[in-house]
Amino acid sequence: MPWERPPTVSPLYRAMTGRILWGARPSLIVLAVFLSGTIICRDQARSQASPKEGGSSLGYTGDPLQGLTDAEKANFQAGFELFVRVWRVEAGLGPLLNGRSCVTCHRVPLPGGSGTTSGTFVHHSPSSRDVVGKTSLAGFEITESGQIKKRPLTSSTTSRKTPALFGLGLLESVETEAILAWLDPEDADADGISGRIVRVGDSYGRFGWKGTVPSILKFNEEAFAVELGLTDRELTPRQLELVTQYVRLLAPAPRGKFGDRSDRGARVFQTLGCHKCHRPSLPISGVLADRFGVDRIHAYTDLLIHDMGQALSDGIQTDLVSDREFRTPPLWGVNATGPPYLHDGRARSLSEAIDAHAGEAAASARKFRSLSNTDRTELIAFLKFL
Ligand code: HEC
Ligand code: HEC
Repeated sequence: MPWERPPTVSPLYRAMTGRILWGARPSLIVLAVFLSGTIICRDQARSQASPKEGGSSLGYTGDPLQGLTDAEKANFQAGFELFVRVWRVEAGLGPLLNGRSCVTCHRVPLPGGSGTTSGTFVHHSPSSRDVVGKTSLAGFEITESGQIKKRPLTSSTTSRKTPALFGLGLLESVETEAILAWLDPEDADADGISGRIVRVGDSYGRFGWKGTVPSILKFNEEAFAVELGLTDRELTPRQLELVTQYVRLLAPAPRGKFGDRSDRGARVFQTLGCHKCHRPSLPISGVLADRFGVDRIHAYTDLLIHDMGQALSDGIQTDLVSDREFRTPPLWGVNATGPPYLHDGRARSLSEAIDAHAGEAAASARKFRSLSNTDRTELIAFLKFL
């Protein structure tokens, strides 16, 4: 277990949240969000820590990317306020919903983060159709008297863990040509790893555990509709745009925040072939790349979907993606957003998550199981550093 850093947040974050959530201290923010109707668990504060040496060049966790213009900062702040807003029935919440606020689920270690408790997971069933035609099941409904009531779950459900949104705008900026160049659907190089991409209209899927959603805007629109029950009659295009700005401008978790660099672990990562899917360096272009003068990010993903074997199947086969296919999750900040890990949160540790790899990742997982204790420890230390 690495040492735990003190629960402090960055000055900008404090100024921002101080305005709307009365308190500067993380525990007060937790309490404020709790009191305002969402369920936030106190162990969130456990992993709240300021980055080493004042943060990475890109920003602090929960903060916007560094170096924004005043106008961008104002949009980020306005989007943040909508992201943590607790919506009321009168404002259009429901009739079916999974939460009252985006931050109900995206909260570990800070707003914009992941959800680590089963109450924040979203259930899916092959036979279910939600308001956007996908397979999620609403956990709650609004009764005629305006009360929020839990709905019973049908038997054959699978759950999906809430992923963190840190650095999402940079992932959106990864060059499509680079991703397409990694495709190997017929496994021409015979390394057991193929990788597919989902075609969505005239673009490609890159978000969500299944990699079927092409943009942050689209994902957010669906999240408002499915998770909160807010449709375009209740949510203005401006509000959707602001929340999208907020998500796009969230900085990635700073490297080295929760662990120290392990060169040996980095070599093990390479030897085991982890880097063939969790690609360390991705070329980016577009507005954010120009803005911050960054042309590569270290996100440890290929943004492709892979067959992960029968044991990880979620039982949901669609026209776009099979029950065994999942998009390689980025590993940057992985230690701040779990445990648990994997699409349904079944893995209680990073080791368990790796051990569960099969299908295209079977060879990697086999090699992982035969590692010496030292190599295993160093690999895990390396992952925590990311
Ligand atoms: C009930 C919990 C819950 C709530 C509330 C919720 N989300 Fe999510 N969010 C999830 C889960 C679970 C996923 C993964 C979905 C999947 O891939 O099937 C997700 C994924 C996302 C993603 C894609 C992340 C990625 O890496 O691909 C975005 C963007 C997002 N949510 C934004 C929002 C916004 C904006 C709101 C508020 C309107 C919101 N979410 C509310 C649970 C939630
Ligand atoms: C064939 C591509 C592939 C290879 C090779 C691969 N992974 Fe993964 N990895 C994935 C996919 C896809 C998932 C998501 C699976 C799921 O959620 O069911 C994943 C999930 C993970 C997770 C959990 C992340 C989270 O946020 O829950 C960790 C940690 C991880 N991989 C580490 C590794 C390590 C270390 C190696 C090398 C031993 C490795 N992976 C090899 C594709 C791969």
